[in-house]
Amino acid sequence: MLLSYRGFMNTKLYHIVTYGCQMNVHESEKIAGQLYALSYTATDNIELADIIIFNTCCIRESAETKEIGNIGAVKTIKKSRPNVIVAVVGCMTQQKGFAENLIKKFPFINIVLGTHNINKLSNSILSVLNDRKRINEIIDSCDYTDKNVPIIRDRTLNAWVNIMYGCNNFCTYCIVPYVRGREVSRLTEEILQDVKELVQQKNYKIITLLGQNVNSYSSSLNGEKVDFAKLLRLINNIEGEFRIKFMTSHPKDLSNELISAIKECKKVSKYLHLPVQSGSTQVLKRMNRRYTREHYLNLIEKLRTKIPDIALSTDIIVGFPGETEKDFEDTCDLIQKVRYNGAFVFMFSKRSGTVAETMPNQIELAVKRERIHRLLEIQKQINNKMADEEIGKKFEVLIEEVTEKEAIASTSFGKVVRIKDANLRVGSIVDIIVTNVKGSKLIGEVYLGE
Ligand code: 5AD
Ligand code: SF4
Repeated sequence: MLLSYRGFMNTKLYHIVTYGCQMNVHESEKIAGQLYALSYTATDNIELADIIIFNTCCIRESAETKEIGNIGAVKTIKKSRPNVIVAVVGCMTQQKGFAENLIKKFPFINIVLGTHNINKLSNSILSVLNDRKRINEIIDSCDYTDKNVPIIRDRTLNAWVNIMYGCNNFCTYCIVPYVRGREVSRLTEEILQDVKELVQQKNYKIITLLGQNVNSYSSSLNGEKVDFAKLLRLINNIEGEFRIKFMTSHPKDLSNELISAIKECKKVSKYLHLPVQSGSTQVLKRMNRRYTREHYLNLIEKLRTKIPDIALSTDIIVGFPGETEKDFEDTCDLIQKVRYNGAFVFMFSKRSGTVAETMPNQIELAVKRERIHRLLEIQKQINNKMADEEIGKKFEVLIEEVTEKEAIASTSFGKVVRIKDANLRVGSIVDIIVTNVKGSKLIGEVYLGE
C-alpha cells in the first residue's frame, strides 16, 4: 500500500541514470513505472529533475568509480535546489557496508535501496516527502520483489521479461551472486501471461527473456516440470508475430534439448550469447566455470551442426589471476576457431568478497591492456571477414529504427543491417539483400525479387 502524500502536483519530473546490463535497464523501467504512478514525468535533463535516481552496477571497478563520480556531481544541483530527491539503488549499494560509506561520503543522498527492494521506491519517496527522513534499507532476502510493480517500457518494439533472478554459480571473479542472491525462477504461468499481453495487446515484436543464467530456469505448469527448453516451446506457441530472444546462457547448462528447442521454435532467434570467459582449461577451472575448453568447442560444433547459420557472441575476461601468455594465446586461438559474430572483452577487475580477489599472481594493468588490445584486434579482423562473406545474401529483417537517412534492421540471426531507405515502417518485416559492408557493418537494400 502506498502512503498518501499531501499536496501532490503532477508536473514533477524524474531523471533515471542507468548503469550496467539489460537486467538493470529493465529494472529502470520498473522504477519509471513507480514514479509514473506517483504522477512524475520523465525528463532527459538532470538539471530540471525533482527526483534523480541512480540505478547502479558493480560488476567492474571502472564502472563503479565512474558511477560514484557522477553521483558526487549531483551535489551542485542539490546546493541550488535542496528539495531535489536523490536515490541510489541496485547492485552497487547491495555490497556489504557500501551504503553506509556512500552516505558518509555524500550526505545529500535521500534514499538508498538494494537489489531486493527496488519495489519500495515509491513508498520511500513518499516518506522522504512527508517526513524529510533519509531511507537506507538494504535487505538480504532473495524472494523476487517486482510482482505487481507497474512498468513503463522504454522501447516500442522490444519488451524485456524477467524469467528468473539471482545466480547460483559463483564464478570466482563475479560479484553478481553476492549482490543479486540465489536463483529464483518466476512462475511459468505468470511469464506466459506477460508475454501474451505484450504481443497480443501491446503489439511488441521482440520478447527478450532475462536471467543471469536462463539455462537453469526451473518451474512447473499444471503439475508438469518446465525447464528452459520447455519454456521456449510454450512461449513459441503463443499466437502472434514476434521474435523471442534470451540472455544469458551458461555453457555448462546448454542441453541437447535446449539446442533442439532453439532449432525447432520458429519464433526463437537463431542467435546465442554464450560467454566462454577464457580459452584455457586451467583458467576456466580457477574461474569455477565447470566446463573445459574442449567441452565448449564441442558445444559450438554441436550448435553449428544442428543450426548451421546460428549467430554466436561471447564474453571474455583477460588478465585473470595467473593467466599466462600461453593461456591467453589459447583464448586467441579459441576465438579464431569459433568465429563469433561479436565478443565483449573485459580486463579482470578485483571485486570485494570474491574468491579471485585474493588469488595469487594478479596480472599487471599494462599486461591486461596489451592483451585486451590484441584480442580485440583479432576479433575485429574476424568480424570484417565475416561481414564480407554476407555480401549478396538475402535475409528477412525486422525494421527496428528509422532515422532521417536510413532504417536499421535485424535478421532473425541477430545481425544488424543498415538500409538506405527512410520510408520503411518500424515493426515491419521486409526482405533485403546485403549489398555492401563498412568495416563489420552490413549495408543492404530492400529486395524486390529477380
Ligand atoms: N572483471 C571483469 N569482468 C567481469 N565480468 C564479470 N565479473 C567480472 C570481473 N570481476 C564479465 C564477465 C561476464 C560479464 C557480464 O562481465 O565476462 O560474463
Ligand atoms: Fe556471474 Fe558466473 Fe553467475 Fe554469470 S554465471 S552472473 S558470470 S557468477
